[in-house]
Amino acid sequence: MAFMLSQSLIIGAVVIVLTPLSVFAASFISKRIHSAFKEQSKITGELGGYSDEMISNRKLTAAFAYEHEAGKKFYEINKRLKICGEKAQFYSSLTNPATRFVNGLVYAAAGVAGAFLAVSSGTVSPGQISSFLAYANQYTKPFNEVSGVIAQLQSAIASASRVFSVIDVIPETDGESDNDYEQIPDEITGVVSAEHVSFSYVTEKPLIRDLNIEISPGSRVAIVGPTGCGKTTLINLLMRFYDVTGGKISVDGVDIKNMKRSSLRSMYGMVLQDTWLFDGTIRENIAYGCPDASDEEIESAAKDAHIHSFIRRLPDGYDTVISGDESSQISAGQKQLLCIARVMLAKTPMLILDEATSSIDTMTEVRISRAFAAMMKGGTSFIVAHRLSTIKNADLILVMRDGDIVETGNHGELLGKRGDYANLWNRQFSE
Ligand SMILES: Nc1ncnc2c1ncn2[C@@H]1O[C@H](COP(=O)(O)OP(=O)(O)OP(=O)(O)O)[C@@H](O)[C@H]1O
Ligand SMILES: [Mg+2]
Repeated sequence: MAFMLSQSLIIGAVVIVLTPLSVFAASFISKRIHSAFKEQSKITGELGGYSDEMISNRKLTAAFAYEHEAGKKFYEINKRLKICGEKAQFYSSLTNPATRFVNGLVYAAAGVAGAFLAVSSGTVSPGQISSFLAYANQYTKPFNEVSGVIAQLQSAIASASRVFSVIDVIPETDGESDNDYEQIPDEITGVVSAEHVSFSYVTEKPLIRDLNIEISPGSRVAIVGPTGCGKTTLINLLMRFYDVTGGKISVDGVDIKNMKRSSLRSMYGMVLQDTWLFDGTIRENIAYGCPDASDEEIESAAKDAHIHSFIRRLPDGYDTVISGDESSQISAGQKQLLCIARVMLAKTPMLILDEATSSIDTMTEVRISRAFAAMMKGGTSFIVAHRLSTIKNADLILVMRDGDIVETGNHGELLGKRGDYANLWNRQFSE
C-alpha cells in the first residue's frame, strides 16, 4: 500500500477509499442470506423431524391409511424448503460476484484517474500506471477472497445458532440440594413417607391434595385404582421426576429435596410399562445398570426373570443383537422380562414396578412376583398393577381415586371394608 501511495498519492487514495465499498456490498447481501439460511435450517429440521416421525411410526401410518396425507404434508414442507433454499443460494452466490464487480469498478477508476493525470499534467508515466494497476489488483484480491467465504460462514452461523438454542435450554431445576451439599440417609432401610403432599401438573387443576403415607421398611406396597387416578404421578414424585408443590416426601428420614436426583434414583430399581431397550446385545441390555456384572450374574438374573430359556434358544444366545424398536425378534412381554432381569441384576434397596408385568402371561407374572418377593426381602417395593391377582399378597395396598388415597390396608382388610377395592376385586373376578 505504501508503495502504491509513493507512486501516486491521488490514484492510491482512489483505490484505498473505494475498495471498502465492496465490503459494504458484501455485508449488505450477507445480512439477507443470514435470515434465509436461518429459515432454511429451520425447515430442514422440520422436514427431518416429520420424516423421522412418519418412518418410525410407519405401521400406524399404514394402519390408518395415512400415507397419502403424510406424503402431502411432506411435499408441502419440502416445497417451502425449496423456495427458501433457492433464495439462500441465490443471495449467497451473489456475494462474491458483487464484490468482484465493485472491485472491477475500483480498478477501472484507478485506470481512469491514472490516464487523466498522465494526459493533463504528465506527472505519471504509462509505465507507472500499468504497475499501479497491478498493485491495485493485488490489493483488492483479499477482499474478493473474504467475500467468497462469507456465504459459507453465514450458513454455518445459522446452523450453529440452532444447535446453541438447544444447548442453552435451562435444565430441570435441581433444587436447593444439587450443589455440593447433600444429605443422604446413613443406611437405606426403605422407610418412605409422604407428609401433606400436594401436586398438580397444571396449576389450575390440583391432582394430589394432602396425601399422607408412611411405609415401613421391607414392605411390598401395591398402588391400585382406575386409569388416570394418579398412580404413575405418585411414582414420578417418589423418583423426583417432578417436585411436589407442597408437603414433603422423605426416605429414611431425609427429605428427598435435600438429595441429589441421581443419588435418589440410584436407590430405586424401576421397570415401567414402556420398556426401554437399546441397540446392543442382550447381555449388554441386561447389564445396563451394572456394566461390571459377570456372565454368571447376568444369567442368574435372567433365570429369575424367567427369560433365560428363551435367550438360550436364540442362535446367538446372550450375544443376540436386539434393538428397542419393533423390528427386533422379541415380543412385548419378552422385552418386559429383559427389563425385569435388568433390575434383578442391579439389586437396588428399593423397587418400583409400574405396570411392569402388563404384557406378560399370568402364570409367568406370578412366578416373577415370587422372584421379586425373594429378591426384595428386607427392601421396599412399590407395585402398580391393574391385575389385582398380582398384588393380592402385598403388605399394604393403597387404593387411589382422583389423586387421593381412599383406602389402605391389606387384601383381607380391604375386602372386609366393602369399599373401592372390594368393588374392583369383585368386578375383575365376576367376569
Ligand atoms: N405430564 C402431564 N401433564 C399434565 N397432566 C398429566 C401429565 N401426566 C398425567 N397427567 C394427568 O394426571 C392424571 C393422573 O395421571 P397418571 O399417569 O398418574 O394416571 P395413572 O393412575 O398412572 O393411570 P394409568 O392406570 O392409566 O397408568 C391424569 O388425569 C392425567 O391426565
Ligand atoms: Mg400409569
